[in-house]
Amino acid sequence: MNGPNLGILGRREPEIYGTDTLADIEAAVAEEVSVRGWDVLSVQHDSEGDLVGALHRHSDSTVGAIVNPGALMIAGWSLRDALASYAPPWIEVHLSNVWAREQFRHESVIAPLASGVVVGLGAFGYRLAAQALMHLSTPAPL
Ligand code: DQA
Repeated sequence: MNGPNLGILGRREPEIYGTDTLADIEAAVAEEVSVRGWDVLSVQHDSEGDLVGALHRHSDSTVGAIVNPGALMIAGWSLRDALASYAPPWIEVHLSNVWAREQFRHESVIAPLASGVVVGLGAFGYRLAAQALMHLSTPAPL
């Protein structure tokens, strides 16, 4: 699940966010989780309400989530509340190292609810988050 301005990855400040498009990232996540036979449902919205609606719609039919809230990390309280009602594990991801950037990016209102947080590792962070979700979920039978 990706929040505002992440639909234009690839051409959005590539010196900060890299050159991978969101489609590239979604394909990488799909590749990671295919070892478990999981499918990826990709959601990107620029508005918070649409993200909240997607969480409501898919909470019962998903095993976990990777969430890059974009700037909603700063004050996305309704996104935060929707995630509080999302029972499966989820990982917060930021492509850039938000701690090395402006002060206003140093706090995330959703991070306290996440199973884990990956920051600053670019698109690779999504692969790591996918691996973390598989690790947190019931292991595949031997
Ligand atoms: C971001 C970091 C946020 O501060 C910013 O508003 C974004 C992208 C990241 O992935 O590095 O939109 O979430």
